[in-house]
Amino acid sequence: MTPVTLGIIGCGNISDAYFRGAAGSSLVRVKACADLRREAAEAKARQYGVQALSIEELLADPEIEIVINLTVPLAHAAVGLQIIAAGKHVYSEKPLAATLADARALAQAAATAGLRIGCAPDTFLGGAHQACRRLIDEGRIGQVVGGAAAVISRGMEMWHPNPEFFFKPGGGPILDIGPYYVTQLINLLGPVKRVAAVATKGYPTRKVTSEPLNGQIIQVEVPTTVNGVLEFESGANISLTASWDVWKNKRIPFEIYGTEGSMMVPDPNRFGGEVAVAKAGGEWQAIAHTHGNTDGEFRAIGVADMAAAIVANRPHRASGALALHALEAMEAFQTSADEGRRVKLETTVERPAMIPPGLPTGQID
Ligand SMILES: NC(=O)c1ccc[n+]([C@@H]2O[C@H](COP(=O)([O-])OP(=O)(O)OC[C@H]3O[C@@H](n4cnc5c(N)ncnc54)[C@H](O)[C@@H]3O)[C@@H](O)[C@H]2O)c1
Repeated sequence: MTPVTLGIIGCGNISDAYFRGAAGSSLVRVKACADLRREAAEAKARQYGVQALSIEELLADPEIEIVINLTVPLAHAAVGLQIIAAGKHVYSEKPLAATLADARALAQAAATAGLRIGCAPDTFLGGAHQACRRLIDEGRIGQVVGGAAAVISRGMEMWHPNPEFFFKPGGGPILDIGPYYVTQLINLLGPVKRVAAVATKGYPTRKVTSEPLNGQIIQVEVPTTVNGVLEFESGANISLTASWDVWKNKRIPFEIYGTEGSMMVPDPNRFGGEVAVAKAGGEWQAIAHTHGNTDGEFRAIGVADMAAAIVANRPHRASGALALHALEAMEAFQTSADEGRRVKLETTVERPAMIPPGLPTGQID
């Protein structure tokens, strides 16, 4: 197919992964980029051989069909609405918006305009995670009963060049890292029914130790240690621990327990990794997974899938509906913690179609 033309708004830390990922796909091509900081757009434009434009110029370019929104979470909804108002499909970094209410408004605007929303993460399209999905669908561990996921570290202020947004509304470990786990869980198990959680803040302030803002003090406005349980419509319940307050731990990141065995799911912030299954009474066995996207960084496969889906008139996998449901589940962690009750979700979503097994790296159908 003729590659679909993309624009990128937001030329910060993660944008390199998208410029590189898109360059590796025959389904899309990046024409231009923009940023509030003109110099950031110009630097990426020079590096990747695209045009640096103002946001208005980029949105007015008739050739650009999909705009990737790589701004900070608090700007996702406003920039997304601008993109839709310009008549273009939007593919957003996660979370879809800083609040469920903003995400709903975005979804409504896109539906009214007949435009698509796509949203990161797309790591669940990686070979390892698709293999987990296939194993569950084939009944290799029986009916899924429970599971545990843990994403635990000491934080973000020691590596990210501008880490403030992680500790402001729209940030926090559940909204920032949770999307990888919650999205893969929905891909594996289907929609979430209810959430129960408890949340706390480990430190009132954070001192940045990365460059160039070394020494900056950040006021923490969101909980940074959260423990919760996701109850799925299927009947399974999965615990999720997300924390940026931990010096050391030995938790296994992601396990699923079924009536016939257990499964180890690799880090869903990566496309590949080791998958293992232990059948009833047996030991862990590594599962070979040969189909697409097993290694390396493929961020942009979600937007490439969306481009192919637009051309083929089929649903795309990393969809706005999936991101909206995941966001409702993640916001429910906060509501449950604040109000001391289990929160029932209002949205639902169908599991995205599996990528057919056996495809070479980077191919989706
Ligand atoms: N950094 C990572 O490793 C990483 C990984 C996965 C996902 N993400 C997600 O990607 C998004 C961006 O993260 P980042 O780390 O690149 O942040 P960043 O702060 O490095 O970059 C964000 C860029 O967006 C620009 N921007 C902010 N508001 C804007 C607006 N209204 N209009 C136009 N430009 C605007 C900023 O000037 C900045 O250049 C976040 O949603 C984050 O959760 C980041």
